[in-house]
Amino acid sequence: MKFFIDTANLDQIREAQALGVLDGVTTNPSLMAKEGITGANNILKHYVDICNIVDGDVSAEVIATDFEGMVREGEALAALHPQIVVKLPMIADGIKACKYFSDNGIRTNMTLVFSAGQALLAAKAGATYVSPFIGRLDDISTDGLHLISEIRLIYDNYEFETEILAASVRHTMHIIDCAKLGADVMTGPLSSIIGLLKHPLTDSGLAQFLADYKKGN
Ligand code: E4P
Repeated sequence: MKFFIDTANLDQIREAQALGVLDGVTTNPSLMAKEGITGANNILKHYVDICNIVDGDVSAEVIATDFEGMVREGEALAALHPQIVVKLPMIADGIKACKYFSDNGIRTNMTLVFSAGQALLAAKAGATYVSPFIGRLDDISTDGLHLISEIRLIYDNYEFETEILAASVRHTMHIIDCAKLGADVMTGPLSSIIGLLKHPLTDSGLAQFLADYKKGN
């Protein structure tokens, strides 16, 4: 399972990278705005900064909502750095652009996916990644994890190569459940990754080992 961090915060990206378990980064316009990164040039520069920190894929989202605009923006984003994956919204023109990019060797991430039907279309259009937003489904009393299991079943039935990128992950149990269900990738906040480390028995066991060592030395 690949671990992506869902942030535009460079310090958090560095911290996750230093842990040695980071496979990539996802961003979106809201995450950029949260870090105060505004204006097209600053945003493009920020993507390059992120690529220079991590080794893996970095999703960069288009703002255009029409096919021509998405193609123009996506090509510019892909030209920024070989690690860039063009993130496209799950609308009709997004699917058309996904097919265009997949035919032209540019990798894509279909975002804002909330149903199995949308995920099926993304795979048909040759998406590299599909991003079902599990946390946002949970927010409206719909089982986000069930969507992951549905997409896994459909993709396995037809051997689609599109990777399931469980997005809108909010906490450690989301990660563990997505791993059980066979999601290829998860993207979540740094806290959800760090949270996997924690267990009180690890802390008390280590404290005891160190105390016992000190007794004999
Ligand atoms: C995915 O790529 C999105 O950036 C993200 O996971 C959205 O998560 P949120 O629902 O916590 O905003």
